[in-house]
Amino acid sequence: MRSTSCHLSNILGGFWPITAAAVLAVVGFVNCGGGGAATGTLNSQPTNPVGFYATQYEKTPTVTAMTAMGRVLFLDTALSSSGRMSCASCHDPAHAMGPANSLSVQLGGPQLQDAGNRAAPSLKYLQTLPAFTEHYFGSEGNDSEDQGPTGGLTWDGRFIQPHEQAKAPLLSPVEMANADSRDVVAKLRDSPSAAQFRQTYGDHVLDAGNEQLAWNGLLLALEVFQQSPADFYPYSSKYDAWLRKQVALSGSEQRGLALFNDPKRGNCAQCHVSAIQSGAFPQFTDYGLIALGVPRNAAIPSNANPANVDLGLCGPLRTDLQSHPEYCGRFKTPTLRNVAVKKSYFHNGVLHRLEDVIRFYSERDVHPEKFYPRKADGSVDKFNDLPAAYRGNLGTTAPFDQPERSQPLFTGAEIADLLAFLSTLTDGYTTP
Ligand code: HEC
Ligand code: HEC
Repeated sequence: MRSTSCHLSNILGGFWPITAAAVLAVVGFVNCGGGGAATGTLNSQPTNPVGFYATQYEKTPTVTAMTAMGRVLFLDTALSSSGRMSCASCHDPAHAMGPANSLSVQLGGPQLQDAGNRAAPSLKYLQTLPAFTEHYFGSEGNDSEDQGPTGGLTWDGRFIQPHEQAKAPLLSPVEMANADSRDVVAKLRDSPSAAQFRQTYGDHVLDAGNEQLAWNGLLLALEVFQQSPADFYPYSSKYDAWLRKQVALSGSEQRGLALFNDPKRGNCAQCHVSAIQSGAFPQFTDYGLIALGVPRNAAIPSNANPANVDLGLCGPLRTDLQSHPEYCGRFKTPTLRNVAVKKSYFHNGVLHRLEDVIRFYSERDVHPEKFYPRKADGSVDKFNDLPAAYRGNLGTTAPFDQPERSQPLFTGAEIADLLAFLSTLTDGYTTP
């Protein structure tokens, strides 16, 4: 089990003052949102983080002002070429910062008709995510054991800081589809956010010649906003209330939790950490990059071409580890907090019901025909989205790869219990 390298903001379930994590992030000290020191190789060409955080604006904004600015920019559709897409289109605050619809991949681009190739994740509970590293050594317990590739933003961990990541959707031709940073700043200048942007960073920040300054200010405000505990890591689920001993779990929820934790049954907590560690509330992920061999998703247009295969950590989206075949097929373990409000699951959004995800864990190895298509000769095309050469990379941890098991892992009643338990991870619970 991996443990997190940054415990600042989730100690005692997120009761840190709103300023603590953000101030540290701004001075470049500890960046809980995207990890601290860079330990892995980077795919993107990063701006010098020290330079980025040390940027001087005409006016030095408070963290509160930047958080408020970031919240507005996050919702500003004027920053897209379609004029109709903002960060919130794919990361909706009313849907745990994930998509409101059930599409496997979202539609963006100038006319909102161009499909992406991955599912939009929830942006909640990323504040303790470590920077990507190929060799992760836990900070507690099994310190000496190499736990393999861990951390980083996106499904393949290719970005370190949220301000680097934010450039991707702003400039991606299938997302907000701006030509370049100057194009974004030009749109910002004419957007409803402009007045507040000047109030935040100074009257001249959007003037001609200050494009780089404005671009930095935009990315910084988005980054600081994403560190706002109230919006991104409130620890306000029933499970958190239970950890605080404010409420009891129902019988079904308790049975689901036990199945989730039991190494001989679900073993889910091995990767989706469920227990308090060193006083820090659990994130329901250890941030490891693991290959589960999820089915290919025919609903993704680019998958019509059989040559297009998303191999995660080894590419093709991520480019720095393409010479590492042992990484092909690995994707980042997502948090299961708020998982019950999601409408598409896994990196390619191939499943749409949480119950089916649990069935995948329960039956992938005993009834693969339920998840994978058949080949021409009638045999099941198991792992049809992972070329045979890379199948040795598949995770072998229980509940997978147990040759002695011939029955599904869970009964129908147990699946109901797991669903009940997973529903306790939804934020916004109010004690009766
Ligand atoms: C068209 C949909 C879309 C829009 C718009 C969008 N995103 Fe995303 N976002 C995604 C997808 C898809 C991913 C996963 C990308 C990958 O794995 O390569 C993602 C990943 C992320 C991540 C990494 C999450 C993680 O679990 O590691 C962050 C942070 C993020 N987006 C922030 C933003 C911000 C900030 C904006 C606005 C500037 C934005 N996104 C706009 C679809 C979108
Ligand atoms: C060996 C590590 C590991 C174990 C054990 C594990 N998971 Fe996962 N889980 C992952 C990874 C990695 C993904 C993402 C895989 C992908 O998209 O390719 C994932 C994805 C998921 C998702 C989809 C979440 C989303 O946002 O799309 C759910 C739900 C889930 N797991 C539940 C469970 C349950 C329930 C168990 C126990 C029966 C379990 N997991 C055991 C690593 C693990």
